Amino acid sequence: MHIGAFILPNALFVAPMAGVTDRPFRKLCKRLGAGYAVSEMITSRPDLQCSLKTARRANHEGEAAPIAVQIAGTDAAMMADAARLNIDRGAQIIDINMGCPAKKVCNKWAGSALMQDPALALHIVQAVVAACTPHGVAVTLKMRTGWSAEQRNAPALALAAEDAGVQMITVHGRTREQGYRGQAEHDTVALVKSRLRIPVVANGDIDSPQVAREVLRRSGADALMIGRAAQGRPWIFREIAHFLASGELLAPPSLSEVKTWLLEHLLDHYQLYGESGGVRSARKHLGWYAQSLPLPAAAVQQFRARINALTDAEAQLRCVSESFDHWDSAYASHPHPPQDWRMAA
Ligand SMILES: Cc1cc2nc3c(=O)[nH]c(=O)nc-3n(C[C@H](O)[C@H](O)[C@H](O)COP(=O)(O)O)c2cc1C
Repeated sequence: MHIGAFILPNALFVAPMAGVTDRPFRKLCKRLGAGYAVSEMITSRPDLQCSLKTARRANHEGEAAPIAVQIAGTDAAMMADAARLNIDRGAQIIDINMGCPAKKVCNKWAGSALMQDPALALHIVQAVVAACTPHGVAVTLKMRTGWSAEQRNAPALALAAEDAGVQMITVHGRTREQGYRGQAEHDTVALVKSRLRIPVVANGDIDSPQVAREVLRRSGADALMIGRAAQGRPWIFREIAHFLASGELLAPPSLSEVKTWLLEHLLDHYQLYGESGGVRSARKHLGWYAQSLPLPAAAVQQFRARINALTDAEAQLRCVSESFDHWDSAYASHPHPPQDWRMAA
């Protein structure tokens, strides 16, 4: 699997998720088997380029190459400027967001709303490719299957984007109209794949090694992108990689392994957000981790309540450490299935 000149270690990608796939989380996913990660979307608005939020989203310190930055916007010139700015800041791949269904983004005609205006979408793609090519930076595109069931225009738009110089396309198997409802379908991804020469990535509802294998089979995609199922379970990448390579399911990690990863994740998280903000924004990750472990619902609830009451890093780290030690002795031999991660979306 390659993107432009970059050969990737494998074909399992972490999906960009605003508020989730920041530098600490991407690094951990890469360490635990993801072959590629893209930043959370970064606005192309010039007035926000120096905001703290944008600076944190653009932070890739210590991350393994390639450094991929996703940009979102509606104005071709602004998107081209944003691409150049992020290249100056170290981006080696620029990804264009045409997949986000959020109202805040779509009302301004960015994200998946661009799929309703293919001429504008293509104009943006051309401008971004023109900005990146002189720097040898590849442009990729992330889209949905279309705006609505009646307007499933991903195959046509993907083909036009390939002609314009885009080097990889990811398709989330839902329309904009669906939001996150219903089930992702990968037949449209298969159609896109059948028409393109560049790598195509399938995305949507891949939450286990078995589903990963089925989506690969059904779509014929070159790679898989996993989002929500990696929340609190960044080791899903090595589980899928192992299954695809061997046909065998990898044993789940021990609680002590997860504890080590989580404590490292927290330290990196505080480093990026500072103690006060970091302790608060880490809470959602902690909840997801607890939810993905073989714990009874009451233990997860109790953990969340304890975590939500803590405001300093030392107390949060201690609570995590003590909770894992307690779970290890109390529950490790009584596995419960993980709760449904889709509820968290
Ligand atoms: C909390 C959250 C934030 C997201 N932010 C982005 C984003 O910044 N850029 C983007 O292209 N997609 C974003 N997405 C969409 C995901 O990248 C992915 O396409 C979608 O979640 C479907 O994949 P999944 O079923 O594996 O989660 C986001 C999704 C979630 C749940």
